[in-house]
Amino acid sequence: MKVTFSIIKADVGGWPGHANVHPALMEIAKNKLQEAKEGGLLIDFHVTHCGDDLELIMTHTKGVDNEEIHSLAWETFKEATEKAKELKLYGAGQDLLSDAFSGNIKGMGPGVAEMEFTERKAEPVIAFMMDKTEPGAFNMPIFKTFADPFNTAGLVIDPSMHNGFVFEIWDIQEHKIVKMSTPEEMYDILALIGAKSRFVIKRVYPKEGGKLPADEPVAVVSTEKLYQIAGKYIGKDDPVAAVRCQSGLPALGEVLNPYAFPHLVSGWMRGSHNGPIMPVGVKNAICTRFDGPPRVVALGFQLSEGKLVGPVDLFDDPGFDRARQIALEVADYMRAHGPFEPHRLPMEDMEYTTLPGVLEKLKGRFVDAKEKENVIAHF
Ligand code: F6R
Ligand code: MG
Ligand code: MG
Repeated sequence: MKVTFSIIKADVGGWPGHANVHPALMEIAKNKLQEAKEGGLLIDFHVTHCGDDLELIMTHTKGVDNEEIHSLAWETFKEATEKAKELKLYGAGQDLLSDAFSGNIKGMGPGVAEMEFTERKAEPVIAFMMDKTEPGAFNMPIFKTFADPFNTAGLVIDPSMHNGFVFEIWDIQEHKIVKMSTPEEMYDILALIGAKSRFVIKRVYPKEGGKLPADEPVAVVSTEKLYQIAGKYIGKDDPVAAVRCQSGLPALGEVLNPYAFPHLVSGWMRGSHNGPIMPVGVKNAICTRFDGPPRVVALGFQLSEGKLVGPVDLFDDPGFDRARQIALEVADYMRAHGPFEPHRLPMEDMEYTTLPGVLEKLKGRFVDAKEKENVIAHF
């Protein structure tokens, strides 16, 4: 059977500040999705949070970009927003950028990662959710998972993975898409996705002639850019991703292993700082210190005719203790830079915040350097 795995998320109010999601909002979402399950729209669902983001994990047979599914998510976020307003939660409704739903939730604020595929005899899927960072934060771990033989032993050992994968990469500034293959184009891919604020991995596909259909994705990442939608900074685009595992795909452990290295991502405090991403269990997905450090949560499921058998809270595991320790050390080191780059983001990424205002204020006080030098030379 073909099943669609959808993760749709939004920050519709933080508790307190931008730290966490209030249980009342999760309750509303659970009730709403339960109704949809009873009505037959959803096969199954799981509601959770990462930091201040309310996360809806849903399975159904409607395919991606389905109006009914997107409208269900939209209505759920609207209802949760009402509650957030009543409780005066922080930034109530902040990710809902429009009042009118027009058939597709994409471009309206919430983040979306969906894929439709033929459910295999055994189908392990991991839902990844990040807070206080941007979609490009997935570039390094997804690349390592599907293309780095030092991470994924299966690329070398498993004949069905030996041919590599196809990466669909989006230029989220120029709004262009390119498909590229590993291992052949590995260096070109890295040239792009190393610039993670611009080029993001959107999907990964198996190659033709392999064990899995080449037209069904095996990984998908949300790529919404809130500031591009809203035209000004209104919060980060805290991304989500879904990754299928095993039997011709990277094993569960090969998908998780990249997060043992807490790489630097952008988005910490005011969406304006680089910091390490810390893998945590859901109970620790609360962004406290300097509104962070950025977090990533991984929930594992087996699918059974679309039913979500799980979740298993995969980073709630001593196997990631050292990653957390390193993340905290790196957090101290980065924090010690205060307002200086590279803790603070480079100017290009700051232009959506204060810097243009500061420059505008000082406009009249800047003098032409050449003129000034001539004056000095004259004396
Ligand atoms: C980062 C984030 C927070 C806020 C910060 C300031 O993505 O959400 O770090 O940017 O708490 O928030 P405001 O300006 O709402 O007081
Ligand atoms: Mg928030
Ligand atoms: Mg958030």
